[in-house]
Amino acid sequence: MERVIIDTDPGIDDAMAIFLAASAPDRISIEALITVNGNTDIDNATQNAFTILTICEREDIPVYKGRSKPLKREVRMCESSHGDDGLGNVKVNKGKIVLQKETAEEYMVRAARENKGILTLMPIGPLTNIAGAVLRDENFAKNIKRIVLMGGAEHCGNMSPTAEFNFWHDPEAAKIVFEAGFEEIIMVGLDVTRKAFMTPAMRELLYQINTPISRFIHQITRIYVDSYWNKLKNLGCELCDVLVSAFLIDESVLKIKEAFVEIETDGICCGTSVVYSVDIWTGKKKNCYVAYDLDVKTFFGLFFEKQFPAFKETAEALIEHEYRV
Ligand code: BDR
Ligand code: CA
Repeated sequence: MERVIIDTDPGIDDAMAIFLAASAPDRISIEALITVNGNTDIDNATQNAFTILTICEREDIPVYKGRSKPLKREVRMCESSHGDDGLGNVKVNKGKIVLQKETAEEYMVRAARENKGILTLMPIGPLTNIAGAVLRDENFAKNIKRIVLMGGAEHCGNMSPTAEFNFWHDPEAAKIVFEAGFEEIIMVGLDVTRKAFMTPAMRELLYQINTPISRFIHQITRIYVDSYWNKLKNLGCELCDVLVSAFLIDESVLKIKEAFVEIETDGICCGTSVVYSVDIWTGKKKNCYVAYDLDVKTFFGLFFEKQFPAFKETAEALIEHEYRV
């Protein structure tokens, strides 16, 4: 059982990641959601956290509000592919906001101190809050069991040819986190999330499954799918953050390798994660595991089976068809 704090900027794929994590209480205990500016501003992100928890009937999970802007920068842009409100501009009954009194950083530092070596951090947005906690308490990194994050890439980018959004948005925070001495960091970046592509037929299956969660995912992904079409002429969408939940449920979905990762905070490659994964780079002490391959059929099988078990066989047949070689 992994006791997890989800640090999120919801976010369409963030919502899907939270739904998947919540669907596996035998593997993941969600201790709290903390919110951060990223895909949308902090007020939208926080409202969206409550909406998501309401839809999956997990209003028992406490929510702590995090930072409203990157550590050292102004907000350069929010992610337009998530809509103006972060959740695809869909009309839905918004969840009631019942915020905890502590800030996200106060909570994380306290929780980590009270549960030394027990808690896993699951950042699926910019790393601003976690860097803030590192700066606030010199023992914070030591007190955390591990971090499994979505961000970065070894070989590609989505904000520039080399930089991924979460690291690009707050590169100074990402740098602090990678240099903080956490016991274990697992970086799930674009190299693998690009392979987690939900096809139009899978999205249609979500509509036909017809539960509140499946219909909500179908609705919020409309604008997300449009943005993939407009930018890349691809039909479907990438489920970036969802891979982190999947990995925490079943580690066999990803192949990982040990590496030294350094974050660039300046110049044309600002926000890039530089991955030293082969041994010709001497003197670089490994600080991370980087995901480099995805078992796509296992991933989508798990996605449907955990959340919509009655449709396991239908989903498996569809996945087999969509990913036939
Ligand atoms: C990351 O940026 C956001 O758009 C997604 O929610 C994900 O966390 C992908 O680069
Ligand atoms: Ca996100």
